[in-house]
Order: sequence, then C-alpha cells, then structure tokens
Amino acid sequence: MPTISSPVFDLPSESGGKDFGIFMPIANGGWILSTTAPKIDGSYEYNRRAALLAEEIGLDFIMSMAKFRGYGGVNHQWDVALDSTVLMSALAAQTKRVKIWTTFQTLLHNPAVVAKMIATLDQVSNGRAGLNVVPGAFRDEFAQMGVWPETLGHDARYDYAGEWMEAVRRLWEEDGEVTLDGKYVKLDHCISEPKPLQKPRPFIVAAGQSEKGMDFAIHNTDALFIGGRDDAEMRTISRRAKEKAKAAGRRLRTYAMAIIVQGETDAEAEAMMDVFRDGFDAEGFRNMLRAYGVIDAEIGKENAMTARARTGFMAPHIAGSAETIVKRIEQAIDDTDLDGLMLIFPDYEAGLKKLAQNVLPALRARYGA
Ligand SMILES: Cc1cc2nc3c(=O)[nH]c(=O)nc-3n(C[C@H](O)[C@H](O)[C@H](O)COP(=O)(O)O)c2cc1C
Repeated sequence: MPTISSPVFDLPSESGGKDFGIFMPIANGGWILSTTAPKIDGSYEYNRRAALLAEEIGLDFIMSMAKFRGYGGVNHQWDVALDSTVLMSALAAQTKRVKIWTTFQTLLHNPAVVAKMIATLDQVSNGRAGLNVVPGAFRDEFAQMGVWPETLGHDARYDYAGEWMEAVRRLWEEDGEVTLDGKYVKLDHCISEPKPLQKPRPFIVAAGQSEKGMDFAIHNTDALFIGGRDDAEMRTISRRAKEKAKAAGRRLRTYAMAIIVQGETDAEAEAMMDVFRDGFDAEGFRNMLRAYGVIDAEIGKENAMTARARTGFMAPHIAGSAETIVKRIEQAIDDTDLDGLMLIFPDYEAGLKKLAQNVLPALRARYGA
C-alpha cells in the first residue's frame, strides 16, 4: 500500500493547538433521535446561518456528510439531506476563513470526478477545501440506486477506497497524465486540471471505526474521527491510531464528535436532556440499526455509535453549564489525546452563540488559537 506524506496544514493542531469545528446540520433531525428535540430541517438556509456563525465566532472547520437515505421512524430522521459538496461550495463562496470539508462516498463516485470537484472547491474557497472520504457502509443507501457491490465485503470496500484515494491524490499532485492499473480503480493516461490551490494537496479525513477503517486512515488521510463507549476506550483507540501512523512514518490527527447541550446551569441542561429522552424515537432507532447492518448482521456487531444511540444521541454528548462543558471538553481532549472536536448542537444558532460567549474563549485560552 503506497504511503502518503503528511504535509503541513494551516490548522491550530499544526502548532500544538486543537481544531474545533461543526458537523453541518445537512440532514433533518440532526443527531438526536427524538421527537421532542428542536426541529432541525436540514435546509440550505439553516445550514447557511450555521456556517456564517461558525466563521464569525472563529471555528476552524465546517464539515458536512454525504447521505442518500435516512432512517424514517416517527421523526423521519435524515430522510431529507442536501448534497454535501454542492452545499459546501455555496458556503465556501460566502465565507473567508473557515475550512470547508465535504464528504464523498467512494462507492458512488469516480475518483477523477472527485479530484476535479475538490480542486474546484479549493478555488471557490481560496484554498480551504478538505475531503472526508468514506467507503459507504449502509446497504440500503446504495442498493436503492443499484450500486451496492454484493460481492465486496466491509474490508474489501476499504481496499477499494485505498486505490480510489491513491487515484485522487495522484491526479492532484502529479503533472501530466496519470495511469493506475489497480484491482478496482483504473486510470488510463488520465488528465485532471486544474490542480487544487493547496500544495501538495487538500486536507483528507476519514471516519472508520473498525480496525480496517483505522488502517485505511493511517495510510491515506491526515485525520481520523474516532469513537468509543467512553473516554478510556477513546484514549486506547486514539493512541493506537497515532502510534500505528507514526510507525508508518505518518502523522495522523484524531478527532471526535460531541453534541453540546448547554444550559445556564447543569440542572437546566439536564432538564433539556430529559425532554429529549422523553421523545426518544424508538422506530427511527431500529431503522438506524438496520441501516448500520446491526440487525441484518452485515457488520455483525453493535458499535459504539449504535450503542449510544439507544439513549437517543447519535454521538457522544456533553451537557451542563458553560463551566461544566469546558471542564468536560478539556478532560476528553486531554485524556484522549485528541487533536480536535467536531461539535453538534440540538439547535445550531442558539448553541453556537452560547459556545462563543463562554466556552470557546476558555478553550482557545487553554489550547491556543
Ligand atoms: C464523523 C463521522 C462522519 C461520517 N460521515 C459519513 C458520511 O458522510 N457518509 C457515510 O456513508 N458514512 C459516514 N460515516 C460512517 C463511516 O464512514 C464508517 O463507515 C462508520 O463509522 C463505520 O466504520 P467502519 O467503516 O470502519 O466499519 C461517518 C462516521 C463518522 C464517525
């Protein structure tokens, strides 16, 4: 497997700081499977306001997922989702500083098409584009359009993604024609112009939770979103990922997601959590498990994300007053040796404004801007 370099990027983590960003509310319902959570509609207007606020308050990145089928249920969770890259290109044109990371599922796109789309996004954003690369894991999402490869299992989909990523990278970095005769990906004197503005290439992240997903990140990306049932498990995963990357001569950042539920006091935040828990969408949850292959046993075992969603939260949550949230974030980052956090809110506008008042300044003071 060809190993890529680890270039220098214009991010706080490059100089010992931490990278903070948001997961764009691109799909309806956000990350709380509850009928009593604020109604995130996933509209362009909602995302536009979130992106502008993220830029205004000084966050480092905004990232959106690629999603083509939701989980239904009472909430119709994620049944409505904008296209990741079309959205991010529009937001790139309206922002100046924040990094713009979009997701591509390797199963759906030819790598030469994606190389050009990201190069285009890099021009639109004046050198702020990044790529979240995912193989695609949820059968129904792809089978509905006739592109689920029945003969390609979980690990083989990552092998495919590895060749795919090599093709994209070479098209970005090499002058002239590129030929690649892979098992899955073929380039035949392929030309891709323009090149991205960022040299040698834009930032690449991945989000695999399995061992194979971690190996893919070690050899192909600059950062990995990790999960875990608790801080201890996340620490083990984070350290292992970094050590394995180092042994392979690479630098791999680790990031995690966190849903921030901020109240004036801890009690107020807990009361908000109770309201969300009361409206837990069990039907949407069952459908999500099925989509993740847990019920139909494609992956075969429950992972930390599906286990957590039993509580209604599709990512780890931190609830409390500003003071508690700062303390918990610092604890999580320090214990886990994370390089950054991607934040999620029950209500993005209110959440980002509260974050800016008394959480983000404390985190910047602690970790540097
Ligand atoms: C932060 C984050 C973002 C993700 N974004 C997407 C996405 O946009 N589209 C998608 O199909 N899967 C997405 N996934 C799923 C992962 O790519 C991956 O398939 C999943 O975490 C299971 O890990 P595994 O593939 O190593 O088994 C995301 C996961 C995480 C944690």
